[in-house]
Amino acid sequence: MPMSSPILQASDLQKVYGAGESRFHALRGVSLDIAEAETLAIVGPSGSGKSTLMHVLAALDRPDGGTVRFRDQDLGALTQRELDTLRNREFGFVFQQFHLDEGASVMENVAMPLMVGRIPRRDRREAVLQALEPLGLEGRIDERAGNLSGGQRQRVAIARAIVNRPRVLFADEPTGALDQENGEKVARLLFDLHEQYGLTLVMVTHSGELAERCGRQVSILDGRLSDPASTTMEGAR
Ligand SMILES: Nc1ncnc2c1ncn2[C@@H]1O[C@H](COP(=O)(O)OP(=O)(O)OP(=O)(O)O)[C@@H](O)[C@H]1O
Ligand SMILES: [Mg+2]
Repeated sequence: MPMSSPILQASDLQKVYGAGESRFHALRGVSLDIAEAETLAIVGPSGSGKSTLMHVLAALDRPDGGTVRFRDQDLGALTQRELDTLRNREFGFVFQQFHLDEGASVMENVAMPLMVGRIPRRDRREAVLQALEPLGLEGRIDERAGNLSGGQRQRVAIARAIVNRPRVLFADEPTGALDQENGEKVARLLFDLHEQYGLTLVMVTHSGELAERCGRQVSILDGRLSDPASTTMEGAR
């Protein structure tokens, strides 16, 4: 029996891209429970479906079959608008390639989820400063994002991911584009956020070393989890 009900529960997920000749079955029946405040690594070779799975879990994409539940709520039953609101409130995202607006300031980049969530302008700067502070970037708030180094950009992306105080942080190869030293800094920050706020961390990574530091690892191969026994949540920490 699980200790508590999972924060996320995926059941028999299917995802098919394209049609006809180019049809590709990217998820083939993935079931996975994720416990509140656990750290989970999703590992597997290139093209195995890691990003696809993460996007479906994070409600960035809808599955073609199966269900995702967030705190017992079936995401498939929500309208797009309801889904967008839930994602904005509950989930944060960090991607390999940062996805910042390079021409905009750090402030504007980090405030983006606050604008989506209709947080009044007068409250945004304080929230952005609070998100930047643990990342050591509060002094760069008015800098153009494009002027920052790769490691700093990824820290700005993390600040953007946590500015709304999400319950789940999804990170897709968060250290993939960084050198060893900056990768280690970013990894440490992610685990610190988990420790401090009980943030649930779901991380796709090629780094065996990073995956080892997570409470649990699941491997995906050709759209299937390779060890179904690992998909229950005994490893939460
Ligand atoms: N939008 C798309 N249209 C068609 N096929 C896609 C699309 N996105 C992904 N795929 C295919 O689905 C499969 C899984 O892709 P996915 O991006 O999930 O892999 P991944 O495990 O994240 O790989 P990587 O480690 O290289 O990032 C791949 O074969 C990919 O080519
Ligand atoms: Mg990927």
